[in-house]
Amino acid sequence: YTAKINVAIDGPAGAGKSTVARQVAAQLGYLYIDTGAMYRAVALAVMRRKLPLSDEEAVARLAEGLQIELRPGSEGQQVLLDGEDVSRAIRTPEVTKRVPQVAAIEAVRRVLVNLQQKMAAGKGVVMDGRDIGTHVIPNAEVKIFLTASVEERARRRYEELKRTNAHLTYEQLLHDIAERDRQDRERLTAPLVQAPDAVLLDSTGLTIAQVVERIVQICRRVLDEGESYG
Ligand code: CDP
Ligand code: CDP
Repeated sequence: YTAKINVAIDGPAGAGKSTVARQVAAQLGYLYIDTGAMYRAVALAVMRRKLPLSDEEAVARLAEGLQIELRPGSEGQQVLLDGEDVSRAIRTPEVTKRVPQVAAIEAVRRVLVNLQQKMAAGKGVVMDGRDIGTHVIPNAEVKIFLTASVEERARRRYEELKRTNAHLTYEQLLHDIAERDRQDRERLTAPLVQAPDAVLLDSTGLTIAQVVERIVQICRRVLDEGESYG
């Protein structure tokens, strides 16, 4: 294809966004951008400096001064925070629990959305998050809202963590995921919501390959239309 498009994938925790987005990007030869990793990096920096989340001004000032970089790595995306590889550190349950609170701060979102919009400006990106289709790239040619039942999402996370020996029970994960979704849906700034023009894709009972195929198909249809009209 001569032209490139942007693909926005949003949805709740554990729907398969990052797994699927990475593979869609690989198939299209596009750049994958994990925006959740960026919010996680800010949350990690806030925790390390022991800043109280109630001091939104201090948190925002910190976020503005951070250098957050995403690089394609051997095990998925590598996340650099002021030059340090924090790819693992941003995935701990402690960070996970705090991210929605940091992500609810409007000034933090302004800093990260600005960065994300610069990354998407050249087209040819597959970006996943919560507000990509609604706020970050509202003009994305393809928007997907990827969901799955909360039980299925908790089960997936449980299977995933079992492999890394984490000591979380299924019930804990179910509770944590439901609570994080609630916070993401109820926040005032850019809450988790399906964009009116997004395609709803329920991945409950689907394999990763099936979900990837459906999204790539949608992208190819849009790219084909672009070739014939544009
Ligand atoms: O991978 P998982 O679904 O567990 O989470 P994530 O995509 O890494 O995102 C972690 C948290 O960052 C979410 O629960 C949101 O609070 C926040 N986030 C956001 O507010 N906006 C985005 N575009 C991406 C993530
Ligand atoms: O990024 P998000 O939080 O939406 O989910 P993820 O971290 O990409 O995926 C959660 C887990 O579900 C991973 O272990 C995937 O292998 C698994 N999974 C999936 O993503 N899609 C399916 N259709 C089935 C399983």
